[in-house]
Amino acid sequence: MTSTPSTSTRVAHNALPPSTLSAGRSPQISSHSHIKGLGLTPEGFATVSGAGFIGQTNAREACGVVVDLIKSRKFSGRALLLVGAPGTGKTALALGVSHELGAKVPFCPMVGSEVYSAEVKKTEVLAEAFRRAIGLKIKETKNVYEGEITELTPTEAENPLSGYGKTVSHVVVGLKTVKGTKQLRLDPTIYEAILKEKVVVGDVIYIEQQTGAVKRVGRSDAYASSYDLEAETYVPLPKGDVHKLKELVQIVTLGDLDAANARPQGGQDIMSVMGSLVKSGRTEVTEKLRREVNKVVQGYVEQGVAEVVPGVVFIDEVHMLDIECFTYLNALLESPMAPTVILATNRGQALVRGTVDIVSPHGVPVDLLDRCMIVKTDGYTRDQIGKVVQLRATVEGLKLGEGVVDRLAVEGEKSSLRYALQLLTPASILAQLGGRTQIELEDIGEMRVLFLDAKTSASNLAESGEFNDV
Ligand SMILES: Nc1ncnc2c1ncn2[C@@H]1O[C@H](COP(=O)(O)OP(=O)(O)OP(=O)(O)O)[C@@H](O)[C@H]1O
Ligand SMILES: [Mg+2]
Repeated sequence: MTSTPSTSTRVAHNALPPSTLSAGRSPQISSHSHIKGLGLTPEGFATVSGAGFIGQTNAREACGVVVDLIKSRKFSGRALLLVGAPGTGKTALALGVSHELGAKVPFCPMVGSEVYSAEVKKTEVLAEAFRRAIGLKIKETKNVYEGEITELTPTEAENPLSGYGKTVSHVVVGLKTVKGTKQLRLDPTIYEAILKEKVVVGDVIYIEQQTGAVKRVGRSDAYASSYDLEAETYVPLPKGDVHKLKELVQIVTLGDLDAANARPQGGQDIMSVMGSLVKSGRTEVTEKLRREVNKVVQGYVEQGVAEVVPGVVFIDEVHMLDIECFTYLNALLESPMAPTVILATNRGQALVRGTVDIVSPHGVPVDLLDRCMIVKTDGYTRDQIGKVVQLRATVEGLKLGEGVVDRLAVEGEKSSLRYALQLLTPASILAQLGGRTQIELEDIGEMRVLFLDAKTSASNLAESGEFNDV
C-alpha cells in the first residue's frame, strides 16, 4: 500500500497530489470487485445481503438454481437471459454465477460488440468463445517429489567455457512431508525451473520426476499470517513420502487446445504436450483443426484419461449481436458439446440488428428467446442503494461522513445506482484535496455540480437544444 500524504491546505481541482489516488489501486478494484458470489443459503434462498449483493433476491435465487443445474450438468445447451434496466446488476449477477461455480469451471465472458472485428468472422468469434467455455479435466498419475522446501542451495562452480562468471553445477533441495525429510541433489535445469516458479524456503512444491517440471502448490500452513485478505494460498504439509505417485488434475479448455495446436511450441508442461496432439505447423485455428482436436479429445474421454467439463459463456449486451450471430447461436446451443450460455441485455422492444423490420423483445429474435429462461432484475429502493454505496465505500477504502450515504442514496434514486457509485471516487479525491480524511456532504454537493447525471444532461439538452448543429 502506498501511504497517503496529508494535504492540509485547499488546492485547486487540477492540482492533484501524486501517486496516492485511485489510479494506483485501480488494477485490483473494478466496479464489480465487491461481488463475491450470489449470497445464497445452502437451501438456495437469497439472504437480504450476502457475498456483496444487496436485494435483488428473486434474480439471485433464479441464478442459484441455474448454478445448481450447471453443477449437476443439466443445463448445457440452454440459455439464461438476464433482462432489466441499466445498472440493476445484470453483469454483477453473471459474475456472481461465475464465482459460485468456482475456478474449476471455465467461464468465458464477452460483450456482444466483440463479434465485430475486421479480421475475424463474426461467427468465428462466437465459436471461439464457446470453445473457451468447454473445459477438459485431465488426470495423470505421475512420479513426483513433493514437500515443503526446507533448504534451497545452489552450488556454483567455475564456468569452464569462460574465465569469468560461475554456473550452477547442481542444486540441493530439502523437502519435508509429515512423514519425513529428504534431500535431493538436482540438475541445474531444474534450478532454472525453480527460479521460474519463484519458490522460496517454506513453499510447498512438487517436482515431476520424468520431466523435471516444478510446480508451486502454495505456501506451507506453518507460515500462515493473520492478515484478513491475502493473495497467498496456504496449503497443509503434504502427507506420505516425499517420493510418491501423485494424481495430478489439470483443466484446459478446448479453446486452449485449438490455440496450442495452431502454434505448437516446446516445453515441459501439459500444454505443450497437448499442443502437439495434432502434428502440423499451422498458425490458424480452422474448422478442420477443431474437428481434429475434438477427435483426439473424444478418444481421451473414451479411454477415461480426460473428462469434459462444460462451462459458461457470458454474452453481455446481447442486443448488439445481429441476426446472423443469433441464428449461429441457435445452432451452437444445439451442438452436442455445448456450454451453458448466459445472456444479458437492458433493451426493451428493439429492432433486431441486421434486419430492417423485425422488432422483438430485448432485441433478441423470438426463436432464440424461446430457448432462453428469462430472469428480470428489479430496480432498487433508496435504502438498498444506500447499502450498496456503503459496501462500495468499504471496498474502495473510503470513509464517509455524516449523512453522505443518505445523500448518495437520494441521488441514486433520482438518477441511477451507477451514478451514485460513480460519484464516490471523485468525491474522495475532492475530500483528499480539501485535506479531509473522509467524504463529507459538501464534496458530494460539489460533485453534483461538476458531473451531470444522465437524466439532468438529457433534460438540459432538451431545454436548450444545444449540440445539434454540427
Ligand atoms: N444488488 C446489488 N448489490 C450490490 N451491488 C450491485 C447490485 N446491483 C448492482 N450493483 C453494482 O452496481 C453497478 C452497476 O451494476 P451492473 O453493471 O451489474 O448493471 P447492469 O445491469 O449490467 O447494467 P447495464 O444494463 O447498463 O449493463 C456495479 O458496480 C454493480 O456491481
Ligand atoms: Mg452490464
